[in-house]
Amino acid sequence: MSIFEGKFFMPTISFCSPKGGCGKSTSCILLALEIARRGLSVIIIDSDPKGWLSSWAAIKELPKGIQVRQAAQDELTEAAMDAAEAADYVLVDVEGSDDASIIDAIMVSDLVIVPSQASRPDALGAVQTLKQVRRRSRLLNKDIPARVLMTFTEAGAVEFRITGEVKNILEEAGAPIMSVQLAYRPIFKSMVTFGGDYMDLPKKLQGSSPESARENVGVLAHEISELLKAQFTAAAE
Ligand SMILES: Nc1ncnc2c1ncn2[C@@H]1O[C@H](COP(=O)(O)OP(=O)(O)O)[C@@H](O)[C@H]1O
Ligand SMILES: [Mg+2]
Repeated sequence: MSIFEGKFFMPTISFCSPKGGCGKSTSCILLALEIARRGLSVIIIDSDPKGWLSSWAAIKELPKGIQVRQAAQDELTEAAMDAAEAADYVLVDVEGSDDASIIDAIMVSDLVIVPSQASRPDALGAVQTLKQVRRRSRLLNKDIPARVLMTFTEAGAVEFRITGEVKNILEEAGAPIMSVQLAYRPIFKSMVTFGGDYMDLPKKLQGSSPESARENVGVLAHEISELLKAQFTAAAE
């Protein structure tokens, strides 16, 4: 059973990396849409002062179950904790370059997703974030799992050679990488441009296979729910 079907956990998941453009806000929106599709509620905390995610939210009426709240860096912790009392899921989107936000987001999280394109700067940024997570876990004496999500990858079955090379850099640095990858898909770009849910876009903006995009996001949500399940089971023991 997927934990999306039950309401026993109210997890907080943050999307962190010091590297801009690695796919934090996009992955955050995609996961929120998938949670809402399963009939659950989700609050996204947008703590990026540029308010990029909030501007996506303002274009169209959001699907039922999704709320976006903006929070300045010094409000992030409280905003996330308040949201956890009001929704099934809380997702925190942070600004890449703001170290203080990343640390605050890590500290309120049950899971940290670290998106990384297949490039060296992204991988190095990811390793830096994972180190911060380990340091905070230790300080708080709380296990905070973190996983690298490879983004902008090839949508087909064949992996770009560079993706493999960058995964090697990450693995050598001891970084745990998710099995699922978020592929580069124009439909996701259209979503942030035209607002709302990518599955509701006009056909001409959906590309050739919206269903495969949806499947990709479904697999991402499933892997995240499995990680959370393991995390909560361990914590309950
Ligand atoms: N999987 C993807 N497929 C297509 N475009 C993407 C994908 N992920 C992100 N983008 C686009 O790349 C840009 C940067 O992504 P974004 O999620 O804003 O990164 P970050 O929040 O880490 O800065 C945005 O214009 C977004 O639309
Ligand atoms: Mg962003």
